[in-house]
Amino acid sequence: MKWSISASPEINIKIQQVSDVWNHPDMLSSDGRLIFVIDRIVYDLYRDSIPIDAVIHQIDCGEIHKNLETAETVWNFFDKINLKRRETVYAIGGGVALDLVGFCCSIYRRGVPYIRIPTTLLAIVDAAVGIKTGINYQNYRNRLGSYYAPKLTLIDNKFIGTQESRHISNGLAEIIKLAVIADKHLFKLLEQDSGLLLTDKFQNNKLANQVIERAISTMLDQLKDNLWETDLRRSVDFGHSFSPTIEMQNILELLHGEAVILDCLLCCCIAYTRKYMNSVDLNRVVSLITKFNLPLYHRDFVNLSMLTKSLDEISIHRNNNQNIPLPMSIGQCRIVNDISESDLLAAISMMNQINENSLNNRD
Ligand SMILES: NC(=O)c1ccc[n+]([C@@H]2O[C@H](COP(=O)([O-])OP(=O)(O)OC[C@H]3O[C@@H](n4cnc5c(N)ncnc54)[C@H](O)[C@@H]3O)[C@@H](O)[C@H]2O)c1
Ligand SMILES: [Zn+2]
Repeated sequence: MKWSISASPEINIKIQQVSDVWNHPDMLSSDGRLIFVIDRIVYDLYRDSIPIDAVIHQIDCGEIHKNLETAETVWNFFDKINLKRRETVYAIGGGVALDLVGFCCSIYRRGVPYIRIPTTLLAIVDAAVGIKTGINYQNYRNRLGSYYAPKLTLIDNKFIGTQESRHISNGLAEIIKLAVIADKHLFKLLEQDSGLLLTDKFQNNKLANQVIERAISTMLDQLKDNLWETDLRRSVDFGHSFSPTIEMQNILELLHGEAVILDCLLCCCIAYTRKYMNSVDLNRVVSLITKFNLPLYHRDFVNLSMLTKSLDEISIHRNNNQNIPLPMSIGQCRIVNDISESDLLAAISMMNQINENSLNNRD
């Protein structure tokens, strides 16, 4: 005998911008308990606004806490409050909290519903948009994880107002990534900024809203036909080829977006030396990176053996294919599988030159 059945989960991704998340009807009209798993720093900053009847578990965030140990505290909390199968959990925090709590919810009782409330720019435009969850394991980024859609994502830009500016730059890195490979209009919006995005922290600023809205729409557009990543040739993996290994090696030094933007720059250099991308576009990318106080240099991104190791590791993750997105011009890219040592050497020399020029300009 042989049996075979097919089934497919239907997914409806709902993302909604709101002006005051703590007083949102979905939260106030909740007929059951309000269950929050929240980034400890966010809790401290917003404790006076948080509904008093919420049942709360605080977690430490930042990349070093995105691990099994923190996940276990969440599962222990679920046990302690007797979380029922259909009770909704609110995941509140940056990308680390959303990825980790989403992962915890996806496997607790084989899946309990959750709502995401992103509180960092990076999470608003990226981590809260798709359906990926995860934690780091054995020094590998997101080695344990799942594809698990939330019931709803509520976006309130006010949270960005309390972020440190380095972390806002970090979020801008993912926006630049997206703009370079998929959206030249978004890139132009970033170029139009006269410095207010960082100084005003995305508050009450027309351009800031345009940037966020455009980034979320473009991201959804990129993800919608490949939510479960059945196709491993993904343009949005731009900036995520060499960076996963290097980021984990430098977990206390580099933020996620900083590692991503260095990877983007390296890939732009490869694209330039292959004559896919012209010097005008390369310079536009370098200018945006500089304008948003993001790094142009890190020793591991000009280290051949580190880059080779990173390329080997990502190729395993991509089922033995490199699948590296390289920009062709601003807003367009192609995916290649033939990056060689000589490509890396040429890109390293270009990266060193860009760094030298920027140091000279600063003098
Ligand atoms: N699932 C996905 O598709 C996806 C996409 C992109 C990134 N990510 C993940 O996102 C993570 C990075 O996210 P992140 O940059 O938000 O990091 P994070 O969650 O660690 O937040 C950064 C810091 O900001 C603090 N913070 C959070 N909200 C704040 C606020 N409103 N005001 C002040 N401080 C605040 C946090 O406590 C933390 O110290 C990475 O682990 C990355 O893998 C996931
Ligand atoms: Zn990323």
